Amino acid sequence: MAGFNPGEAELEEFFSLLKRLADSFGVSGYEDEIRGLVVDLLREAADELRVDRFGNVVAVKRGGRGSPHVLWDAHMDEIGFFVRYIDERGFLYLSPVGGWSERVLPGQRVRVRTRDGKLIRGVIGVKPPHLLRQEERDKVIPLDKLFVDIGASSREEALEAGVEVGSPVDLDREAVRLLGARVTGKSFDDRVGVAVLVKAFREIDPGDATVTLVVAVQEEVGLKGARVAAQQLQPDAAIAVDVTAISDVPDTPRQDWVAELGKGPVLKVADGRSASGLIASPKLLRLLRETAESLGIPYQLAVLPGGTTDATAIALTGRGVPAAVVAVPTRYIHSPVELLDLRDAVAASMLVREATRRITLDWYRENLEEKKLKP
Ligand code: CO
Ligand code: ZN
Repeated sequence: MAGFNPGEAELEEFFSLLKRLADSFGVSGYEDEIRGLVVDLLREAADELRVDRFGNVVAVKRGGRGSPHVLWDAHMDEIGFFVRYIDERGFLYLSPVGGWSERVLPGQRVRVRTRDGKLIRGVIGVKPPHLLRQEERDKVIPLDKLFVDIGASSREEALEAGVEVGSPVDLDREAVRLLGARVTGKSFDDRVGVAVLVKAFREIDPGDATVTLVVAVQEEVGLKGARVAAQQLQPDAAIAVDVTAISDVPDTPRQDWVAELGKGPVLKVADGRSASGLIASPKLLRLLRETAESLGIPYQLAVLPGGTTDATAIALTGRGVPAAVVAVPTRYIHSPVELLDLRDAVAASMLVREATRRITLDWYRENLEEKKLKP
């Protein structure tokens, strides 16, 4: 990456922050553990810090009086499951929380959060090849047929351990470094966004703007936390940081990659099917690009054909909020082996921080403020 070259020490420091966040439990609606960590990470840097009624963490850094109010958003929840049934032999059946690809699930290790908040381990059972019938060999097992084996021999034993209908479940997978600056783990969607914004929030001297960082709950089940937070806050502009799905891997033709790992953060021009998610504010997009270009931060433009982010919900609150997305390109999202390049994430953090510093009162008035055309 020309002009932008974080050293190994900065990469390792970012990785240890990301790992703490990604390894934490936080299935949508059950974010207590990850929320506790996020609060600890923001306590010192924030002028104001609260957990709202919906469970979002809201941290404020104050700018000057009458300054533009910029909302930063990343979501802390992760996709997972709820236990929907425990059979008489103690096997658990699952209901999805968020959009899994069930192809990746058989043979995974999981964590079940018990009634008193303990995490116990289990595995998603899979038939040995020796016992597979011919017609089963090439089939994907639907999620409603998968079961979790926690080692129990009876329903009573499972109940006694604190497992019940509704117990949330995540994958048991620790983040690790691979070659170079690449890392893999679960729930980088969107713990990497949280790490990017925690770092930027700690470092930013907001100048003119007031920055409110929302670390939102329940994104994976319909962008819910961010919507509630933006309704309360009524910001003047918003930047969401999330992962973006890419597929720069063998078997995918170049025109379908979306973006490439290690080539810098992704500025999304639009997302959702037929651009029905967010169309990023062209003014914010231009600000982000000019900031990146003037500082030598690499970036990639992308149009994502499916899926969207919290920015979409935020944009539609109040009188409308100009919004943009700075995304960390990530392979294999919504799987237990999400994979990203730390340099893209560190660059994203620097880009959000520096672009926000350029949202001065003058810039805001010229670019984003409502235009009164006749008195
Ligand atoms: Co997601
Ligand atoms: Zn996400």
